[in-house]
Amino acid sequence: MTKAIHPLEPFKIKMIEKIDMIDRDERTQAVKRAGYNPFALRAEEVYIDLLTDSGTGAMSDHQWAGLMSGDESYAGGRNFYNLEAAVQDIFGFQYVIPTHQGRGAEQAFFPVLAKPGQFALNNYHFDTTKGHVELLGAKARNFTIKESFDTSTYHPFKGNMDIKALEAFIEKEGAENCAFVMLTITNNSAGGQPVSMQNIKDTAAVAKKFNLKFIFDSARFAENAYFIKMREAGYENTAIIDIVREMYSYADALTMSAKKDAIVNMGGMIAVREDEELYIAARTYVVPMEGFYTYGGLSGRDIEALARGLYEGIDEKHLNYRVKQIEYLGTKLMEIGVPIQYPTGGHAVFVDAKKLLPQIPAHEFPAQALSVALYIESGVRAVEIGSFLEGRDPETGEQAHSEMELLRLTIPRRVYTQTHMDQIVEGFKKVVAIKDTLKGYTFEYEAPVLRHFTARLKPVE
Ligand code: F0G
Repeated sequence: MTKAIHPLEPFKIKMIEKIDMIDRDERTQAVKRAGYNPFALRAEEVYIDLLTDSGTGAMSDHQWAGLMSGDESYAGGRNFYNLEAAVQDIFGFQYVIPTHQGRGAEQAFFPVLAKPGQFALNNYHFDTTKGHVELLGAKARNFTIKESFDTSTYHPFKGNMDIKALEAFIEKEGAENCAFVMLTITNNSAGGQPVSMQNIKDTAAVAKKFNLKFIFDSARFAENAYFIKMREAGYENTAIIDIVREMYSYADALTMSAKKDAIVNMGGMIAVREDEELYIAARTYVVPMEGFYTYGGLSGRDIEALARGLYEGIDEKHLNYRVKQIEYLGTKLMEIGVPIQYPTGGHAVFVDAKKLLPQIPAHEFPAQALSVALYIESGVRAVEIGSFLEGRDPETGEQAHSEMELLRLTIPRRVYTQTHMDQIVEGFKKVVAIKDTLKGYTFEYEAPVLRHFTARLKPVE
C-alpha cells in the first residue's frame, strides 16, 4: 500500500457554495423520514454529497463564459456546430446528436439497435442502460472479468470484458439473437474500473466476427484513457486525446452521459462513426423523444458548455488530480481497515460492505446499511451499488444475484478539497467503531423498475 498523498489542485476557486452540517439527532430523524433511502434526503441535510459524480461537477470560468454565447435558435444553432467539431476532433466520429443526458441517448438509440427478446451484451450495464434494454423487452447480460469481483486483489484493468465468456455466449445463443456489444468505460458498476486498449481491441474483434455493432457507453471515457496511459505498456508517452482517438477507432457508435467526464450539469449525446443509416435512424427517434436533432433536449448554452467541457475532461493535469484525489481517499480508508475495491478506480472509492458488515446478508442490503450509518455518523451521503440496486430478475421476480455489495463514495469533479476527503475518513472511523452493531434493511415500498431510487426501507428487527 502506498502512502496517501493528496495531489495539488490544478485550479483555484472563484465562486463558492455554502454548505452546513445539521447535528446527529437531526440526521437520524432525516434518514428515518427518507425511508432509509439517501435518495429521499433533502440535499441541504447532507454535508458532503457523494451520491454521484453525475452533473455535480464544478464548471470552469471558460465553460460559464460559453453559456453567454448560447445560440437559442430552434434548428442549426452555432453551439451544435461547435459540439460537432469537438466530437469529430476528439472521437473521430462523423455524426453527433445531443440528448438531454445519457439515458436520453439510450432511450432514443436502443430501439434502433435491439429487438424484443434479443440479448444486449455489456461488460457491465449501468442501471439505466439495463433499464432501457428491459423496457424494450430485450435482455441485459454482463461479462465483466472475474478478477473484478475480488476486491482485494490488484488487477490494472478490472473493468475488462471477459472475452471468452462473451464469445461463448454469442456462439451458444446465436448472433441473430444478440442485439449489440457494448463496453462501459470506465466500468462504473465494477468500481469505476478501466478497460484496457487490448481488451477494447479484443471486444471489437468479437463484435466484428459476429457482425454486431460495437458501442461505447462513454460516461467516463477520459478517466479510462488516463488509466491506459498510466497502466498499459506502450501508452506512457501518448497524449490523452490520442489514446481517446485510438479507443474510439474500434467502435461504431457511442452513447454518452456528458454529466461526468464532460463536466456539465446536464447533457448527453449519441454519436456515430460513419454509418449514415444508423445515424439517420437514431435521429428519427431523437426528434419526438428529445427534440430537434441539433439541440436534443438541451439549451444552446448548455451545448456550448458541453463542447468546451469535452476538452477540459481530457486535460491530463485535470485527470491526474482527479484520479489521485480518489486514490488518496481510498488509501486513507484502507489505512483505517476499511476494505475497498482495489486499486481505486476513476470516479469513486467503492467500499466492500460484504467484508465490512459480514453479519448482514445480501438480501438485507449491507451496503445500504453502511450508507445509512455513514450518513448518521458524519453527514456524508453515498450510494449502494449491490443487491438493492441490482433489483429483481424481470422473469422470476426473485432478488437477482449481485456479485458485490459496494458502497460508492462518488467524488464530484473539482468540488471538494483535501479537508473534505479527511472528513469522510473521520466519518468512517466512527462507523468502524460500531460496525458490529449494524443491522440490515427490508422493504416498506418497492417500485417494479429502478427501485433503488424510490424505495422506502425499514430496519430488520
Ligand atoms: N452510463 C453510465 C456508465 C452511467 O454511469 C450513467 C449514469 C448513465 C449511463 C446514464 O446517464 O445519468 O446522464 O442519464 N450514471 C450516474 C451515476 C447517474 O451516478 O453513476 P445519465
